[in-house]
Amino acid sequence: MRKFFVGLAGLQLLAVVAQFFLAASGAFATAPNEESFQPHRALGGGLLLIAVLVTVVAAIARMPGRVIGMSGLAAGLVVLQFLIKTIAGAIDGTAGDLFFGLHALNGLAIGATTGHMIRHARQVPEPATPARQAS
Ligand code: HEM
Repeated sequence: MRKFFVGLAGLQLLAVVAQFFLAASGAFATAPNEESFQPHRALGGGLLLIAVLVTVVAAIARMPGRVIGMSGLAAGLVVLQFLIKTIAGAIDGTAGDLFFGLHALNGLAIGATTGHMIRHARQVPEPATPARQAS
């Protein structure tokens, strides 16, 4: 179960890296933002599902509290990505654009939290399987 958790958390890290890639390719595309950022928006939703799943699996696998906490923190930071976009959209002019810069910084925080979580989780030994009774 712990190996499954580490694998799933690895997938989360991969999705974060892909988000950076898709943000850059969306920014440099000639199509309108609505279209060019569609893959980034879609993976953002997918990443939220993965992050929630990682948190649930961390709890089921009885990972240490620190790892469960980091998985929940990462999921919360993904939710924050949506909130930053909404709040920035509600602020007029340059202030709104500057506020949206937090979206990129928060993306870094999500990646760092996920990386730390994986490092800690890999140090946790699998629980020993009960030895078979000799007959
Ligand atoms: C883990 C990292 C990231 C996640 C989970 C994420 C998630 C999202 C989501 C869900 C949206 C759509 C929000 C909405 O329409 O309500 C969005 C929009 C956007 N993201 Fe990210 N993002 C991440 C990283 C980044 C980075 C690193 C950049 C750029 C440096 C970036 C640039 C943008 C831009 C420009 C939009 C607005 C696109 C538009 O609708 O015009 N994102 N992001």
